[in-house]
Amino acid sequence: MARLYVTILVSVLMATTNCLADGWTTIRNGSVWLDTNGDTVQAHAPGFLHYGGRWYMIGEDRSDSWHPDVNMYSSDDLVHWRFETKIIRNGVTVPELGTRRFIERAKLMHNPRTGKFVVWCHWEGPRYAASEAACFSADSICGPYRLEWSGRPLGVKSRDCNVFVDNDGEAYFVSTTEENTNIGLFRLADDYLSAESHVCLMPGLRREAPVIVRHDNLYYMLSSACTGWAPNQCMLSVSKRLDRGWSQLEKIGDDKAFRTQAAAVIEIKGTKKTTYLYIGDRWMDPDLPSSKIIIFPIEFKDGKCIFEYRDEFRINFATGEVE
Ligand code: GAL
Repeated sequence: MARLYVTILVSVLMATTNCLADGWTTIRNGSVWLDTNGDTVQAHAPGFLHYGGRWYMIGEDRSDSWHPDVNMYSSDDLVHWRFETKIIRNGVTVPELGTRRFIERAKLMHNPRTGKFVVWCHWEGPRYAASEAACFSADSICGPYRLEWSGRPLGVKSRDCNVFVDNDGEAYFVSTTEENTNIGLFRLADDYLSAESHVCLMPGLRREAPVIVRHDNLYYMLSSACTGWAPNQCMLSVSKRLDRGWSQLEKIGDDKAFRTQAAAVIEIKGTKKTTYLYIGDRWMDPDLPSSKIIIFPIEFKDGKCIFEYRDEFRINFATGEVE
């Protein structure tokens, strides 16, 4: 009888943790995620930071569709998400947030030189006319976060955005600039709190939702066309240098990016291999608050990228293997 109880207990534990005894975690796509309190995870257009052995995810809380606070969650396995806190709160963190201003695409970095946690985001107003960015910082990962700066970086109109930290610790803000016309690459100061230089990439190509990854000394950039919440073809561009030499856009995946728009690519460094996971938003599924976060493996090799949707896959966070 005791053995039966133990067997049942182990099965229940395995089912609830989703993590098999052999170290494999199953990730399933298509549903709204629930956090460890049973509440809907609200972290759209998420940004990720692996810190202290855990994954931290920040993103737009779209429960009140158009005025998102920025929520932070943490997880060991990208399946079980603990709600940590609202790191940016309408009307509180900055008084004008929630009325004349809203935030999109908040992304998180840690600066090893200053020890600070730094958030860069899109900082907007009515009809996306402001075209600004903002930077927040905190001494601890969960905050409190203070506004450091907001405006057009180096005077350049800036909308959809992301961040990229290179192997040498240099950080970049990358965004869709000048009325969704170009991609702007802004090198950040050593403290990550301001932009120091700007180069215009992909002039006139009208790309947004940029994500940059470095693999084997090549930089890969994913991006979408500008069609609002409607999904479109994901495209890849590759370069040996961040500031120039980006290749012609090449289609990857199906013509709707599997009904997603890129938000991040994260690196899982295992003992056997390094695996990359693509994270995209399936917006308006069927409404803004119920938009889904979708994760699947993505591979980079010799300037090419394998971008294939998986309804479900297994990952071993220790070895880095996926199946
Ligand atoms: C998308 C953009 C989103 C959001 C949306 C609003 O093009 O990627 O972040 O701004 O438009 O319609």
